[in-house]
Amino acid sequence: MVMLRTLKHFLALLVATGGFALLAHAQNQRGFLSIDCSLPRNSSYYEKTTGLFYISDAGFTDSGESIFLLPENRGTYQQQMWSLRSFPEGIRNCYRINVTSGAKYLIRTTFLYGNYDGKNTLPKFDVHLGSNLWDTVSITDASEAIVMQIIHVPSQNYLHVCLVKTEDSSTPFITSIELRPLNNTAYQTQMGSLALVNRYDTGTPKVETGYRYPFDAYDRSWSSYNPSNWTSLSSSLTNDINVRNSYQPPPIVMSTAATRKKKRDSLDFWLPNGNSSELYYIFMHFAELQKLKDNQIREFNISYDDVENWSGPHSPRYLSLTTVFSSRGLKGGRRISIYATHNSTLPPIINAYEVYMVKEFLTSEADQNDVDAITTLKSTYGVKRNWQGDPCTREYLWQGVSCLYDDSEVPRIISLNLSSSGLTGEISPSISNLKMLQTLDLSNNNLTGSLPDFLSLLPNLTVLNLQNNHLRGSVPPGLLEKWKNKMLLLSVCGNQDVNAPVSCHNKEMQKKNVVIIVVVASVLGIIVVLSTVTAIWWGLKRKRQHHMPSTSTIKTDSRKSRDLQLTYSYILKITNNFERVIGKGGFGTVYHGHLGDTQVAVKMLSPSAVRGHRQFHAEVNLLMRVHHRNLTKLVGYCNDGTNTGLIYEYMANGNLQAHLSDDCPYILKWEVRLRIALHAAQGLEYLHDGCKPPIVHRDVKSTNILLNENLHAKLSDFGLSKTFSTDSTTGSHVSTSVVAGTPGYLDPVYYVSNRLNEKSDIYSFGVVLLEIITGRPAIDESHNRKIHICDWITAILGNGDIRSIVDPRLQGNFDISSAWKAVELAMNCVSPTSIQRPTMSQVVIELKDCLDKGLAWNMESRDNINWKDSIGTRPSDSITQLSPPPR
Ligand SMILES: *[C@@H]1O[C@H](CO)[C@@H](O)[C@H](O)[C@H]1NC(C)=O
Ligand SMILES: *[C@@H]1O[C@H](CO)[C@@H](O)[C@H](O)[C@H]1NC(C)=O
Ligand SMILES: *[C@@H]1O[C@H](CO)[C@@H](O)[C@H](O)[C@H]1NC(C)=O
Ligand SMILES: *[C@@H]1O[C@H](CO)[C@@H](O)[C@H](O)[C@H]1NC(C)=O
Ligand SMILES: *[C@@H]1O[C@H](CO)[C@@H](O)[C@H](O)[C@H]1NC(C)=O
Ligand SMILES: *[C@@H]1O[C@H](CO)[C@@H](O)[C@H](O)[C@H]1NC(C)=O
Ligand SMILES: *[C@@H]1O[C@H](CO)[C@@H](O)[C@H](O)[C@H]1NC(C)=O
Ligand SMILES: *[C@@H]1O[C@H](CO)[C@@H](O)[C@H](O)[C@H]1NC(C)=O
Ligand SMILES: *[C@@H]1O[C@H](CO)[C@@H](O)[C@H](O)[C@H]1NC(C)=O
Repeated sequence: MVMLRTLKHFLALLVATGGFALLAHAQNQRGFLSIDCSLPRNSSYYEKTTGLFYISDAGFTDSGESIFLLPENRGTYQQQMWSLRSFPEGIRNCYRINVTSGAKYLIRTTFLYGNYDGKNTLPKFDVHLGSNLWDTVSITDASEAIVMQIIHVPSQNYLHVCLVKTEDSSTPFITSIELRPLNNTAYQTQMGSLALVNRYDTGTPKVETGYRYPFDAYDRSWSSYNPSNWTSLSSSLTNDINVRNSYQPPPIVMSTAATRKKKRDSLDFWLPNGNSSELYYIFMHFAELQKLKDNQIREFNISYDDVENWSGPHSPRYLSLTTVFSSRGLKGGRRISIYATHNSTLPPIINAYEVYMVKEFLTSEADQNDVDAITTLKSTYGVKRNWQGDPCTREYLWQGVSCLYDDSEVPRIISLNLSSSGLTGEISPSISNLKMLQTLDLSNNNLTGSLPDFLSLLPNLTVLNLQNNHLRGSVPPGLLEKWKNKMLLLSVCGNQDVNAPVSCHNKEMQKKNVVIIVVVASVLGIIVVLSTVTAIWWGLKRKRQHHMPSTSTIKTDSRKSRDLQLTYSYILKITNNFERVIGKGGFGTVYHGHLGDTQVAVKMLSPSAVRGHRQFHAEVNLLMRVHHRNLTKLVGYCNDGTNTGLIYEYMANGNLQAHLSDDCPYILKWEVRLRIALHAAQGLEYLHDGCKPPIVHRDVKSTNILLNENLHAKLSDFGLSKTFSTDSTTGSHVSTSVVAGTPGYLDPVYYVSNRLNEKSDIYSFGVVLLEIITGRPAIDESHNRKIHICDWITAILGNGDIRSIVDPRLQGNFDISSAWKAVELAMNCVSPTSIQRPTMSQVVIELKDCLDKGLAWNMESRDNINWKDSIGTRPSDSITQLSPPPR
């Protein structure tokens, strides 16, 4: 916060000096860009007191609302301060400004709240430059302008200034943006950009307004600074100051200097006391203002942090500029002292100085060609979404865009999903400039024209989905060639006029209308059979154990659940003194037990996992009222002060992870996998959407998906990590922060936000889905290094062969389109930002679709099998393959 300055004065109307407006018009504002935010499109004006030319911000942003301050709230500010643009919608809104890459700019943003919304709320928000945080704007006084200035060299020929909501989610706004090209040889640093801390005109007594343009050729703002024990020295020869170095401080600023009365007194000031990692640069400007007599010498040295002779000796010449600056970053809180040398007969002077803080912007922005291409697409198709600023900034990725990050290179766009975006017109040639594109989805739009061959020039394109558009003509040779060589997964179905020799499921099905009906009938048949079987099974089950869940409503009868509190001795009895361990988890050990003739799983919580008994009761009572066929049911609990246990329904086939592992003696079929995923998804959907308040699982993983004797999957351990903490390694009480989640499954957003929500569950579910698809563990540690499944799949997706993704043990026995869909769904779930992830109900719908595809394929691919047979045998087929169960 150290660089934020409220410089009301230099932005004020210089009433007394209205005269130089005309003068300014005549001068050359070379390369100046002055944007008055919310000025109507195409309008512009010369500001009265400075003569600066302000233009509308309409061409630089496509969001926000324009607002004019009430006249009584405009104070004595210059005209550009009278209006602002506010951004109530979206998290991040950006300005895109064309610049010259490699040129050095002074960038100044101002913020005058002026209680524009009548709420008097004092907003707080972040300002980003490109993908990096510049600073936080925190309004403390509605009538005081905040000014942020930075000297920055853009690496691309555009610059993004973004306003970002912070946690207190107040509405960001901006009043003006000004860009001033500087001389590249001035303000050199070893690294980073320079955020202004202060820029002082010393020795100028009683100046109310500071100086800016037209006094300063670069429109820097100078404010006066005069500690009480300094005195001033001035020259009337203002225009004779020889300002020939690249800094060009204004002659009027240089024509006054601070000095001391006594020769031996020094001019001291301190660098800001920032935190220890912050570094500062200082630039000091000197010019002798007295015509010295022959016996007079003014000579001084400069010390930094009491290191004498840090710089010197200096003896500025009459009316001639000397600039002294640090050649590397200086630590804060240290003293700079300007003191006379022994030979000097006069006290030291200083005419002006500037202090800047180093801002290292480490996150690079996306490749410029990619950005140009996608920006063109954005305007060609009028894409709305959150397409603002840099497309690859991790926290604010553009919806439908994914990028490849390589520390040594700029991020590249590798996937673009514009499905169902209402696109019209032809396929834009700009797409061919997204050179690293691997996946392109333009399905379900109104695109017309022919299939362009330029898409074949994308070297890495492996998935091209153009389904359901109005494209015509034939598939161009380049694409056809790639498709034939199995380098491209091409989908053009749903374009009636495309003359495609390309295989496409729908197309094939269209040809065989009869077959479709048969298939649909068969699928329905299976579903009927399945549901009958399930119904019968449920019926039997219910007779045997009356605690089985039957409905998906939360029962509110809490008295009933209290009945299921068991004593410790009873627990000992039903588990036969903890005879058989069936699992071990973060919260404790799980034992096998019998409640009457019903098998149960008894989870004994380690003492350190229970935090407070009142909370335990509240939570358990809530969990016992959650009923859903895809959630393991909590049937009772034990809590006598020392021993705490939870009693769950028993799931005969253990957890999903064991079934996916290499040690498992059999292989789960593709459709079975999808069904398990669907079950788990439905359980999670219920927690998110069916429960009030919604329950965040917080620890979705393959070991928490349990399978019963029919491979019906249920989610377990939901809601636990909120109340209970996992065993800490020290064995002591885990107090404040609740450890949540499991490495490999934990939402990366958590490391930033420290909060888990529904979208974190979606991420974890995505990881589980990837495990199900690939048969690989979430973190593969087999080759002496840890490879996360998401990284693995991102790498392997590049070669576009679904067979290298899906579990090789399936030996290709799966439907390709179903597999692609599942992979795509999983990848959406593990999107780096929560906003890009689907909701659980979307996941359920997609999974149903995958399962339908899988089942349809299964039958299609068995043309030689009698349909009746396959209906009869298919469901049990998948089950018989599994016996004996793993125990
Ligand atoms: C702005 O100017 C452009 C070109 O000069 C013109 O096409 C456009 O209609 C103008 N817009 C408005 C809102 O006046
Ligand atoms: C910025 O530059 C791009 C080309 O690089 C151009 O298409 C665009 O119109 C320019 N924008 C403005 C506001 O000048
Ligand atoms: C000069 O005044 C400043 C405050 O205005 C004070 O911090 C500093 O110690 C004084 N210096 C001397 C040498 O008195
Ligand atoms: C930048 O400053 C240097 C040194 O004073 C000068 O030679 C050069 O002409 C300046 N460049 C511009 C573009 O003004
Ligand atoms: C110090 O400042 C740097 C950069 O502004 C920041 O990243 C860091 O978190 C700060 N450290 C502390 C201890 O505040
Ligand atoms: C000033 O600096 C010069 C050169 O570094 C040194 O020789 C001289 O002793 C210094 N004078 C004082 C008073 O520190
Ligand atoms: C001081 O002045 C004397 C005589 O003019 C000269 O010899 C000496 O080098 C000077 N000392 C410094 C540190 O400049
Ligand atoms: C395509 O355009 C028609 C009208 O021209 C519209 O009804 C339809 O919704 C559009 N389809 C898509 C996918 O945008
Ligand atoms: C993409 O294509 C480039 C150039 O043909 C190639 O060097 C690169 O390895 C490819 N990247 C991937 C991930 O396939």
